[in-house]
Amino acid sequence: MKDHLTVVKHPLVQHKLTMMRKHDTTTGEFRRLLREISQLLAYEVTGELPMTTRRITTPMEEMDAPVLAGRKLALVSILRAGNGLLDGMLELIPSARVGFVGLYRDEETLRPVQYYFKVPTELGERLVITVDPMLATGNSSVAAIDLLKEAGARNLRFLCLLAAPEGVARMKEAHPDVPIVTAALDERLNEKGYIVPGLGDAGDRMYGTK
Ligand code: URA
Repeated sequence: MKDHLTVVKHPLVQHKLTMMRKHDTTTGEFRRLLREISQLLAYEVTGELPMTTRRITTPMEEMDAPVLAGRKLALVSILRAGNGLLDGMLELIPSARVGFVGLYRDEETLRPVQYYFKVPTELGERLVITVDPMLATGNSSVAAIDLLKEAGARNLRFLCLLAAPEGVARMKEAHPDVPIVTAALDERLNEKGYIVPGLGDAGDRMYGTK
C-alpha cells in the first residue's frame, strides 16, 4: 500500500459505522455491524495480495484462472476487542492463519505488558494483518507490532475501525513501514484516552460488559 493511512470512505462502511457509534445500538446489532464492516475493510486491506494462475476446467473449456499465491496470510488479533474484527474477516478468508496478542497496562509504568502471545509459523513469509478496532494512544498497537517484528514478521498491515490522530502519529513514528487501514479518523483523544467522538469502549459494546 502506498499511503501510511487509508480511510475507507465507502458509503456502506460509513453508514454502518454511524450505526455503531450511536449510544443506543444494542450489543447484538453492534456485533453484526462490526462483522459486516470488518469484511468491507478486509476487502481494502487485502487488495494487493500476490496472485498466480491455476489451470482449471470450466463446463466450457480449460483456462488459466487467477488464485492467491504464496503462504496463507496471518490475521493477528489484539485481545480482546480485536476478536470482533477477526471473526468477520475469517468468514471472508477462512484459510487465514490466526495469532493472538494479549497486553495489559501496568498501572505504575503505564506501559503495555504482554500476557499472551501465540502466532502462526513462518511469519516472515506471510502478510500479517494486525486487527484492533480502536487505534487510540497507539501504545498497544506499537507494542503488538514490536512483538510481531521480533517474531519475524516483515510485511505488516494494521486494520482498525476508528483511529485518533495521536495513535496514527505514534504508529507512524514507531512503525512507518506498517500501513494503517481504518473506517474513520476521529478528532482526538479525551483525558482518559478514549477516542472522541468515537463509539465508547469497543470491547464492552461488543460483549455487553461494563
Ligand atoms: N479503546 C476503546 O475501546 N475505545 C476508545 O475510545 C479507546 C480505546
